[in-house]
Amino acid sequence: MNLEGRVATVTGAGRGMGEAIARRLAQEGAAVVVSDIDGENAEKAAARIRQSGGRALALRTDVGEETDATELAATAVREFGGLDIHVNNAGISTAKLFLETAREDMERILRVNLTGAMLCAQAAVRVMLEKRYGRIINIASLSGQRGGIGRTAYGASKAGLELMTKVMSVELASRGITINNVAPGAIATEMAVQMHDQATRDAYHYLIPQRRYGTPEEIASAVAYLASEEAAHICGATLNVDGGYLTAGLMYKHPDIDAPSPPEV
Ligand SMILES: NC(=O)c1ccc[n+]([C@@H]2O[C@H](COP(=O)([O-])OP(=O)(O)OC[C@H]3O[C@@H](n4cnc5c(N)ncnc54)[C@H](O)[C@@H]3O)[C@@H](O)[C@H]2O)c1
Repeated sequence: MNLEGRVATVTGAGRGMGEAIARRLAQEGAAVVVSDIDGENAEKAAARIRQSGGRALALRTDVGEETDATELAATAVREFGGLDIHVNNAGISTAKLFLETAREDMERILRVNLTGAMLCAQAAVRVMLEKRYGRIINIASLSGQRGGIGRTAYGASKAGLELMTKVMSVELASRGITINNVAPGAIATEMAVQMHDQATRDAYHYLIPQRRYGTPEEIASAVAYLASEEAAHICGATLNVDGGYLTAGLMYKHPDIDAPSPPEV
């Protein structure tokens, strides 16, 4: 996947999946604006990319602020001469039961995961339309596709993101811009480590046919593909990177099927 000459912006790229995505896009040749609400982490992540020979700069961005979203796209144009790839990765979560979910929880999560993605994508698309070329990749979630316990606000935000991707795709396909989702299952990042207790980990190992969490790098591979020329005709799709989680139906212990030793994460 050759992204030489391309310019990318990645939100929530100060750590976790976002950092892995930014690193991978830079390895493929793109110049990357590494943005995060945690400006210090963004600086560190961008510095690590530069140290390994990539082109990257950092920007503190709160995706829920329209002026920040606009500045993100403007920075790519000003510093790197354009904007070809935008990845909506920034996301926050909570694990509260439906009746315990407060209005504040719902509004806080929708603001970042859905409204923030819309604002950043709008700013990116306005630039991309000038060249009639662009790739937008949204990081959705299996939690937006299935009803998981405690996922009222988070699941709704990610389901909304998937649907928004379809609408954007239909409206922008003829103008050279593709929009697709990558939907991770359980990925071993700080977010997952903080949120998942042993019971949650055990449940994932049971429900995921590959019997393991994915890695941030496996998500980054899927994003790099969707950002590339090779993915030109993929439009409005969701690529699940989840070890078979979405596809699984009846699951029970079977000596010929179960992995002999449980994975660490
Ligand atoms: N880890 C998983 O298992 C998993 C599964 C499915 C989907 N996802 C999604 O993948 C994405 C990345 O998740 P992660 O596990 O790397 O999370 P993470 O918490 O490790 O990283 C998220 C990053 O987003 C940043 N961020 C938070 N609010 C922001 C805002 N308002 N503006 C800009 N940046 C902000 C944080 O500072 C952080 O650096 C998220 O959208 C998440 O919902 C994660």
